[in-house]
Amino acid sequence: MDQDLLFALARIAWLIGAVAFVLGLIRMNSPATARNGNLVSAGGMAIAIVATAIYLLLRPAPAEGSSGITGWIIIVVGIAVGGGLGLYTARTVKMTAMPQLVSLFNAVGGGAAALIAIDDYLGIAGTPGLVANVAIVLDIIIGSITFTGSLIASGKLMGLKITPSRPVRVPGGQITTAALALVMVAAAIFLWIGNYSVPAMFLILAAALIFGVTMTLPIGGADMPVVISLLNSFTGTAVAMAGFVLDNPVLIIAGALVGASGAILTKLMADAMNRSVMNIMVGGFGGGEGTVAAAGPEGGSVRSIGMDDAAIQLAYASSVIIVPGYGLAVAQAQHAVRELAELLEERGVTVNYAIHPVAGRMPGHMNVLLAEANVPYPQLREMEDINPEFDRADVALVVGANDVTNPAARRAGTPVSGMPILDVDHAKSIIVIKRSMGRGYAGIDNELYVNPKTGMLFADAKQGLADLVAAVKAL
Ligand code: TAP
Repeated sequence: MDQDLLFALARIAWLIGAVAFVLGLIRMNSPATARNGNLVSAGGMAIAIVATAIYLLLRPAPAEGSSGITGWIIIVVGIAVGGGLGLYTARTVKMTAMPQLVSLFNAVGGGAAALIAIDDYLGIAGTPGLVANVAIVLDIIIGSITFTGSLIASGKLMGLKITPSRPVRVPGGQITTAALALVMVAAAIFLWIGNYSVPAMFLILAAALIFGVTMTLPIGGADMPVVISLLNSFTGTAVAMAGFVLDNPVLIIAGALVGASGAILTKLMADAMNRSVMNIMVGGFGGGEGTVAAAGPEGGSVRSIGMDDAAIQLAYASSVIIVPGYGLAVAQAQHAVRELAELLEERGVTVNYAIHPVAGRMPGHMNVLLAEANVPYPQLREMEDINPEFDRADVALVVGANDVTNPAARRAGTPVSGMPILDVDHAKSIIVIKRSMGRGYAGIDNELYVNPKTGMLFADAKQGLADLVAAVKAL
């Protein structure tokens, strides 16, 4: 086939793939169409991969390079092993372990992009053109930082011994990190002004790999979701750079989409926690082990209630708002909560779920969990939308949520000050299911628990909800 025509056809297929990525992203805006959006994007990626493979097969073989039979064996084995592992882990991972898996995938993406750039640099005899040179160096820097940073982030979330969840001070602290950044910038400028130097390239690689470690180790495990989202954005940027290196538009577009959406998500998460991304990156609270008490303005005592009391309140209410949190996710209580909600609805109770943007430990955690349990989408209400309705709710049922309901956030001087919260304390009556008076992620006491309207139902979320279902049925 004519080579120009072949290349034009490949580019058209890549364009179709890129359009599918954008359409898929748009469909991910709503839980109702998100699954379909995933399929559309995956379809776009399949088109891009198949088109690239056909293009490589049909184009005249280059004089040298990796497209001989050995190259194809490596590609096919790579796809089989990588694809198989990806499919297996994605299918078997627990919802609560999703952030660390995403982080591992980020590491792989960043590492692959960096390897492509290194291979390209070593394959060039003489100085590459300025655009290629800039893209290659940025790809090595961003890809390598993402690789080690994501591995550390994942290890912290897994609670590995060598990567403890608490903030870890690296020797020299931020001075070390700043020095590494300086080395990278100086060596990059050296290459950009027209020098071809393999040792300088490897110096950049080493500094970037260490930078990823020294940047991530001092951040507390509880801030990892934000860091992972930022590194996800880095992965996208590294892939886009790899697209420039390989002159592949579909990589540039896909990478740019991941880079931009990751950056937006990072900003949204930081805003929902009322902190700046910079504040998170250079450390702050978030060790997950802080035990600062947010002394309530009025003190007060905790009222514990029994299953029957809670069942009566719920069964005879006309409107109930359920507030799911991290504890519901850990206990895998999503099916139990849906069962209770259905039971209440059968009795004529209006049930809605109040979804805080950072409830749980990763973006969209609650939406995904509840959607998995077939909770109807219209019942999942976002914070701004549901907050005015707490005033009219007879019962707010809080299940394993803590910080996102803490009225201390409305006052200055607490670790959660300024964090937007669900107005649970506006409901006529409040039931909180959790196992103890244990603190949440921010490590502070929750003033909601000493509110005279609040009844604490101490139980594991899944067991407690199952017992509530039985108690309501028995009424
Ligand atoms: P948290 O404030 O962390 O509270 C979770 C509560 O669940 C704990 O107080 C715990 O109390 C309870 N719990 C744990 N296991 C349980 C079980 N098996 N059954 C019943 N209860 C259980 O959670 P939240 O309200 O969802 O807030 C999320 C926090 O994570 C926020 O501070 C947010 O800033 C932070 N964060 C979120 C994200 C994203 S993107 N979601 C990212 C970074 C940080 P007991 O031990 O007493 O049971």
